[in-house]
Amino acid sequence: MRHAVIMAGGSGTRLWPLSRAERPKQLLDVVADGTGGAHSLLAEAFARLRALLPAEQIWVCTAARYGEQVAAALPELRADRLILEPVARDTANAVGLAAALVADVDPEAELAVVSADHVIRPVERFAAALETAYDALAARPRALVTLGITPTSPATGFGYVQRGPATEVAGVAEAASFREKPDLATAQQYLDSGQYLWNSGMFVWRARTVLDALGEHLPASADGLARIVAAPSGPDREAVLAEVFPTLPKISVDYAVLEPAAAEPGRVLVVDLDVDWLDVGSWPALASTLSTDEAGNAVSGMVVALDAAGNIVFSDDPEHLVALVGVRDSVVVHTADVTMVCPAGDAERVKQLLAEVERRH
Ligand code: GDD
Ligand code: MG
Repeated sequence: MRHAVIMAGGSGTRLWPLSRAERPKQLLDVVADGTGGAHSLLAEAFARLRALLPAEQIWVCTAARYGEQVAAALPELRADRLILEPVARDTANAVGLAAALVADVDPEAELAVVSADHVIRPVERFAAALETAYDALAARPRALVTLGITPTSPATGFGYVQRGPATEVAGVAEAASFREKPDLATAQQYLDSGQYLWNSGMFVWRARTVLDALGEHLPASADGLARIVAAPSGPDREAVLAEVFPTLPKISVDYAVLEPAAAEPGRVLVVDLDVDWLDVGSWPALASTLSTDEAGNAVSGMVVALDAAGNIVFSDDPEHLVALVGVRDSVVVHTADVTMVCPAGDAERVKQLLAEVERRH
């Protein structure tokens, strides 16, 4: 049967101080819903999958500390489809845990893995691409299928998939190589070659296939996960999870599985995801989901801007006015306890800033 799991355990540090350890970006109501309100990226990810799958085939994998917030944000999510990690061990283990638990209830499960932090339009084309990726598994049951996006810049924060020969399945190509987060020069070379797609971070595979791949490329993780699901579901499994999961090697599925697996011809396949796609990872990315004034300021909250252009201004307190004069290309974020200001060009350094704040406080 077809299943899907939303990876929703990231902490979104580059969107500080809006995104916090206690309330990360995927749970914030930041996406305008077109009717004057807003909802979360997670709710949007769930709704995208609901277009294809009934609620009982949709799982969410997140950190235990976000469990209640996730359940509250997703009234349709079944309690036994919420997977809680005791600590974050990155996506190789989150994906592995989800695959092991899904396979435990449905050994033949075909499992889509999707991110919680993307804006994707239109949803129909996303659904069609996901359908194609599931279909590819009928012809290639051992395949690791990634959904690829046509790149528009030499971004260094993404994985790159090199398109190889077409397969017998329409719309599906073999991946000739996979490279996670290359340096800028390499990313530029990939972009210029026209042969590469960005890895969307969304995948489709049989649950058993990705567990096998973990067994090949990250055996310590595969062994630990096997111990967890060997325990009967309930308090026993919880206890093994709490003991074993924190010891698993912390690494993303892209580095741990996709990069090495792509060296095996025909093992990794790629489906073109031809949509408007945004990884809402940083302030400039979030800004593109906000409304824009005449001077090109992306604003949210009570803001007055005079002779100010190209700024990103965010106030999460409806009673608190943020006023700018003569300021250009800056990010100004006001929250109840933190105000953060930086040139837009330094937005990627917010993660570094947060580390410094944590060091001093
Ligand atoms: N459950 C869980 N546990 N989810 C996690 C964890 C974890 O430990 N770590 C991250 N996630 C979730 C995030 O919330 C997000 O939805 C997704 O997994 C991807 O994690 P990111 O941390 O945002 O990864 P990335 O953006 O650096 O890179 C990935 O996505 C890019 C596209 O957005 C990679 O797959 C890249 O190859 C890809 O280009
Ligand atoms: Mg991301």
